[in-house]
Amino acid sequence: MDATLSNIDLQRSNYDVDAIRADFPILASEFNGYPLTFLDSGASAQKPECVLRRMDDVYRRSYANVHRGAYALSQAATDYYEGARKTVARYLNARSDDEIVFTHNVTAAINLVAHSYGRRFLERGDEVIISQMEHHANIVPWQLLRDEIGIELKVAPIDQAGNLLLDQLAEMFSHKTKLVSLTHVSNVLGTIVPIKKVIDLAHERDIPVLIDGAQGIVHTRVDVQDLDAEFYAFTGHKLYGPSGIGVLYGKKDLLNTMPPYEGGGDMIERVTFEKTTYRDAPARFEAGTPPIVEAAGLAAAIDYVDEIGMENISSHEQELLNYATERLNEVDGITIYGEAQHKVGIISFTLDKVHPHDIATIIDSRGVSVRAGHHCAQPLMDWYGVAATTRASFGMYSNKQDVDALVDGLKYVKEIFS
Ligand code: ALA
Repeated sequence: MDATLSNIDLQRSNYDVDAIRADFPILASEFNGYPLTFLDSGASAQKPECVLRRMDDVYRRSYANVHRGAYALSQAATDYYEGARKTVARYLNARSDDEIVFTHNVTAAINLVAHSYGRRFLERGDEVIISQMEHHANIVPWQLLRDEIGIELKVAPIDQAGNLLLDQLAEMFSHKTKLVSLTHVSNVLGTIVPIKKVIDLAHERDIPVLIDGAQGIVHTRVDVQDLDAEFYAFTGHKLYGPSGIGVLYGKKDLLNTMPPYEGGGDMIERVTFEKTTYRDAPARFEAGTPPIVEAAGLAAAIDYVDEIGMENISSHEQELLNYATERLNEVDGITIYGEAQHKVGIISFTLDKVHPHDIATIIDSRGVSVRAGHHCAQPLMDWYGVAATTRASFGMYSNKQDVDALVDGLKYVKEIFS
């Protein structure tokens, strides 16, 4: 591993959040004379120096299109791109690099499965089970398929705290259930869904499972062989890598039964005007010039996360979540949405008599960045009977000062509205 990847030295320090912060140049910024308090990592995380440097290096020294040239520069770029596939496969503990399809984000990965797997294997009347707390990216692709071929969507319920009701989900299985497509971690509530249990339940009935790991990969260790889901999707930009690259892990045999979703260069074996044949996965799902430099950046991000250790990151974030929950409860009129027993560092809340957007705008004037709105989860908002919440979400670099700045900001909002 690149010895210069990070400034941290876990041998010497327990979890040295200051050293980690020093790896993220943007965290030294000021806004309106306040230090940046970045609490929107759930939407997109900041990038460490090693990711920025890797991408800059590839553009400066190794950039060309991949898989196309016999010349050295194209080979160097191909090595970066295919090397990134190996890094992802290793990180996920996939059986083979061929199980790693590069997409543009989670949305693209789920659309790929809905349109390729869905059109091939699902028929009118077949059922797909999702849950009440899905992101739109795991709702709308299935609705498009429903409108096209007449499948049915069934929604597994949650309780008020945001726990998935497993027993009720189990009762929803029928002989028509052809897929379970579930989030790993709610982007609004922070709930960690017991996906291993859901996968086991589905597999007892030979039903395949897709996991939307957009938030899950950022806060938990993912081992695809242990989980055994047929598909696991995640995106680079929430995992401290660049935007524009996502990953669809899929079991190799299954991927090779699925027809291409997009056609174009690089995914074919032979093209004639009469007939075209396709390469095996992952190439058959990667039509056109792929996100070359983004793949290299993602690999650097994964190496960085791995060097710090997901277990260390998770326990740091857990400590911060406990601190934040305690401190936020000091604020008069606050309601926190999502109090599942197992949750990650994502806290959604409302304040009596103040619109979530006003909260976000006012605390932004003090350098605090949070997301406000429906968080691309309108059915969940409807279920809680709110139009919007304000959401603070942590990354590996978040610290207690961030939480204190948020709480001070909310107290300031209360003063303005009192
Ligand atoms: N899915 C991202 C979020 O939760 C954008 O904010």
